[in-house]
Amino acid sequence: MATIIKNKNELLRTREKIIGQKVGFVPTMGNLHKGHLSLVEKSLNESDVTTISIFVNPTQFGPNEDFESYPRTLEEDIEKICSVANPLNKKVYIFAPTDMSEVYPENFTTKFSIPDIENNLCGLKRPGHFQGVLSVIYHLFNLVHPHVAIFGQKDYQQFLLIKKFSEDMFPAIEIKSAPIVREDSGLAMSSRNNYLSNRERAQAILLRDTILNIQNKLLTEKSQIAGDDFIHESPGIDWDYLKILDAQTLTTYSPTESKKILIAGAMSVLKKVRIIDNILMENPHV
Ligand code: PAF
Repeated sequence: MATIIKNKNELLRTREKIIGQKVGFVPTMGNLHKGHLSLVEKSLNESDVTTISIFVNPTQFGPNEDFESYPRTLEEDIEKICSVANPLNKKVYIFAPTDMSEVYPENFTTKFSIPDIENNLCGLKRPGHFQGVLSVIYHLFNLVHPHVAIFGQKDYQQFLLIKKFSEDMFPAIEIKSAPIVREDSGLAMSSRNNYLSNRERAQAILLRDTILNIQNKLLTEKSQIAGDDFIHESPGIDWDYLKILDAQTLTTYSPTESKKILIAGAMSVLKKVRIIDNILMENPHV
């Protein structure tokens, strides 16, 4: 059911063969967990065939980030994809390029940027990160030619950015998101959770708990509140941000006008692992 494709010419030839079928696309950097698999499952259910890319994209990592050590687990990833695709009897193509030149042309320098969405939340802490994401999405979309592409809500800013980018550059591609999948403790699933010990995972849950506190406050109170007021220092935790925003514009929310509100936070645990989480909620007061 799964065909592994290692180079772009083979991917383009395969795309020719499946013309007329609805193609779903799930871009990933591998080290798949249940969150990724929920995206794959959504695509399998909504499309005729699904392409999943597994590519640790160098252009979205900062100089002091974990590009070199990012977990690469291709064999396990293939098995996990087959475990959801085979029972549904659906065809999947796994694009796992062996080299950067299978995705990017040589000396690629063009940069894409949407400052209104980028200059906030993670974009402020990770300069150049979202430009790298848009670069790889541009090339992957040109290779895969999907009808629909699916992204996780955990990276809500990334989802919003790619949605706007696609409206401008690939209007025929539908961009969808799927809900955050959580561990039993409530911690949002992430490939980087693997870097955390059990004790650190317990510390990391502070992010989820704080976001839930804010949600409760917003449900009961109509006055404007600020995310920063909910930040409580805790040993081993460094807060990056905690924001309450209008979910469409990523600007400060209005308690009386914003229809959908995003509560989003990021923190580092023991200066080792940066985790992010969010809740999207309807504003009950409009
Ligand atoms: O969310 C990710 O894993 C990556 O940012 C993506 C969308 C696969 C681009 O490399």
